[in-house]
Amino acid sequence: MIGEPGESVSTHGSTREVSVRRLTPVDAALAARAIAGIKRGAALANEAAEADRLRRWLGDPNRVLFVATDTQRPVGFALGYLLDRIDADAQMLCFYEIEVLASHRRRGIGTRLVEAMKAVARSRRVIKMWVQTDPANVAARGLYEHTGAARSDAPDEVYTWDAASLKGSDRA
Ligand SMILES: CC(C)(COP(=O)(O)OP(=O)(O)OC[C@H]1O[C@@H](n2cnc3c(N)ncnc32)[C@H](O)[C@@H]1OP(=O)(O)O)[C@@H](O)C(=O)NCCC(=O)NCCS
Repeated sequence: MIGEPGESVSTHGSTREVSVRRLTPVDAALAARAIAGIKRGAALANEAAEADRLRRWLGDPNRVLFVATDTQRPVGFALGYLLDRIDADAQMLCFYEIEVLASHRRRGIGTRLVEAMKAVARSRRVIKMWVQTDPANVAARGLYEHTGAARSDAPDEVYTWDAASLKGSDRA
């Protein structure tokens, strides 16, 4: 099943094969290239150090990273976190982030990444999976609706404590 780490699906796109796979610690170098190339849009200064960090990151079964590759080049990723409920012996899946390279959009890769994340949610029998997006992000909204998500009727506002606002006294 694609929901388990290391398992993959491959399909043929218009010209080349794109595969989607959940990464495990042995895939740390690929994870490093995917995050640098897609999320940061920059080459890695120190691939070995970043791969070391991601090897540890990927060792936690509650962290979920799918990467789409086109002939071994990372072209998309989806990131999620399985969270334990406090009121039940169950988990939720916080679908945190997804991105597909601009050159590869509108070819169904985003859909495959979301479906892969849904497979993890099913295999862990989560209570729910959710994602947050900017209402102005037409592509993201289209993708989530296309893959069966329903928009919350009353979206909550998000408040963020950045590093500066977290500074201060440690007294509770
Ligand atoms: C959102 C994103 C991941 C979609 O990836 P993708 O691979 O292009 O998605 P798909 O090809 O699977 O598209 C599936 C469906 O989503 C909808 N969709 C995708 N992009 C769309 C767009 N630009 N405008 C309107 N609908 C869109 C369509 O219904 C599409 O089906 P169709 O192509 O048959 O019409 C991609 O646009 C992206 O990386 N955006 C920048 C990062 C981002 O905003 N991430 C979300 C943050 S919350």
